[in-house]
Amino acid sequence: MERQQYLSATLETINIDRLRDSALNSFEDLTWLFTCDSRNRGIIRQGFDEAALLWKAVRATAGNILEVGRNQAGSTVLLAAAAPDREIYSIDIKAKAHPACAKFLARPENKTRVHQLVADSRKTLPRITFGFEFIDGDHSFGGVLADVIAHWNALEAEGLAVFHDAVPNQNFKWRDQHRTLHRFWIRMKNRFRKLKKAEIAPDYETGVFSVCETLVERGLAERGEQAGSMLVLRKLANLPAEFENIARRDFARRQ
Ligand SMILES: C[S@@+](CC[C@H](N)C(=O)[O-])C[C@H]1O[C@@H](n2cnc3c(N)ncnc32)[C@H](O)[C@@H]1O
Repeated sequence: MERQQYLSATLETINIDRLRDSALNSFEDLTWLFTCDSRNRGIIRQGFDEAALLWKAVRATAGNILEVGRNQAGSTVLLAAAAPDREIYSIDIKAKAHPACAKFLARPENKTRVHQLVADSRKTLPRITFGFEFIDGDHSFGGVLADVIAHWNALEAEGLAVFHDAVPNQNFKWRDQHRTLHRFWIRMKNRFRKLKKAEIAPDYETGVFSVCETLVERGLAERGEQAGSMLVLRKLANLPAEFENIARRDFARRQ
């Protein structure tokens, strides 16, 4: 799907009516009662609706959990709380857990099952399969493509993969509305820049979007729910050998 089509198909229709009318009644289904955007971000780098979707998606699966991109370990805490009896493999290239998260993850019930790996996520974890994967590491096209190549085939059939910063959203609408001076200033500076800066910072990453689109368009995944920039995919098939080339061609076509 092209970006413009996608935008009109998804923005403004994010689940509110469906959820309000549905029989779902867990707390995490009630995010439509709140204002959810980037102001919710704290130790965890997610909006409240995004975190609620992550929570629901984890709980809809079984088996080992992979996290790519731990940052201060806010999302690691969420995964550990959502799946209290599952093994979690969390990869980040840097160790920088917030003290409160470090304390939570050091509790006896978490300590031995939450593996906080300090490594490059582009490397496959050998001999481990996952029922759930959360991909939130390097958001460049090359980075997310490498993560998918490294870990997609370790996702079990029908397993869920959740990608952050994957789809157009309104996380920064509140901020951009009041940034007229800031935008004016960027415009002025752009006059003297070779490489122009965007007046409004993007609300999602085109590389993440494109890799997810390729997975869906090529029949390797089926699109699930989305909230904010968070997108759930259900695995349908392993990657073909030529996936990297296909994804690169698709990305070039979408630019
Ligand atoms: C957006 S943050 C993750 C936020 C976290 N999931 C949360 O929700 O709070 C992205 C993280 O990916 C890590 N990262 C970037 N490139 C990486 C790589 N090649 N391997 C492992 N981690 C990487 C960064 O160090 C950073 O901590």
